[in-house]
This record gives sequence, structure tokens and C-alpha cells, in this order.
Amino acid sequence: MKKIEISASATLYSDVSELSLEDKMLMDKAVEARKKAYAPYSKFNVGAALLLENNEIVLGNNQENAAYPSGMCAERVAVWRAGSEFPNVKVLKLAISASSSITKVDKPVGPCGACRQSLSEYEIKQKQPFPVLFMGEVGEIVKTESLLSLLPFSFDSSYL
Ligand code: THU
Repeated sequence: MKKIEISASATLYSDVSELSLEDKMLMDKAVEARKKAYAPYSKFNVGAALLLENNEIVLGNNQENAAYPSGMCAERVAVWRAGSEFPNVKVLKLAISASSSITKVDKPVGPCGACRQSLSEYEIKQKQPFPVLFMGEVGEIVKTESLLSLLPFSFDSSYL
């Protein structure tokens, strides 16, 4: 038996003013998407913005449903839109922003496990890591250099 270490690193920014121009622009797009979320049940709005290699920006937001499990997260709406509209164009970066009409979201909100798995498919497919930036409505931003760094021991096609 032996212990193995799993490590991941991320950069923590105090607020959007510390971001590069491109990161700030993409986060602004995520905020724009977030404002159009359909979240009447949770009141928790999430927006995602993907920057693609062809300079397109593909947006997504959470779409809820009265049959709760039939709703969908912002990140998967965005990545599936990108995958269907631009099937062979690489993702360069993902920005995520979350807010709530019930409470102030002032901590970075990372993508849920199911979204990490869905997103990992595209990072693996394109053989190029993409940074992921996430935040709440205000406050700190986390930036990781790759999606897979958020998903150790992930499942991929090599197991099939
Ligand atoms: N949600 C997202 O859109 N992305 C995540 O990564 C986590 C959660 C949405 C799903 C649901 O509409 C609401 O946030 C509350 O869970």
C-alpha cells in the first residue's frame, strides 16, 4: 500500500479589477448570461461564457424545470451549445458567475461535479487544457489552468 498525493493549484484574485483584459471581458459575458438565467425555483442564477479559438463567445445559463431534475446547469448549456455549433473549434477559456436573489453570493462558485465531467470530455478531445475562472456575484475569483485539475481520477474513454 502506498499513499499518493493529488494536488491542484489555482490563482485567487481579490476582485475583477485584478483580471487581465481578456479574462475580465469573458467574466463580463458570463455575468451577461447569468442575468438571463431561468431559475424561478432555486433563485440561484449561473452564467457561463466560453471563449473559442475562432474568437466566438458561447454563452449559457441555468435552465430550471418544474420537474427539478429536468433542468440544466449553465456550464453544460454553454459547452453543449459550443459543441453543437462549433464541433471542431477548441475551447480556450471558461468563465462562470453565480448570484442569488435570496442571498449575496460573495464566494467563488465552482462548477458542479456533473458539469466538470461533461466539460472534461471537451478538454480531452481537443488535447489542450483550458483555464476555468469562477466567481460569485462579487468578490474573489478562482482561476485554474485546466478543467481536469478540478477533476482528479475522472472517468474517460480510456476505460471503455
Ligand atoms: N447550477 C449551475 O448552473 N451550475 C453549477 O455548476 C451548479 C448549479 C444551477 C443548477 C440550478 O439551476 C441552480 O444552480 C441551483 O442548484
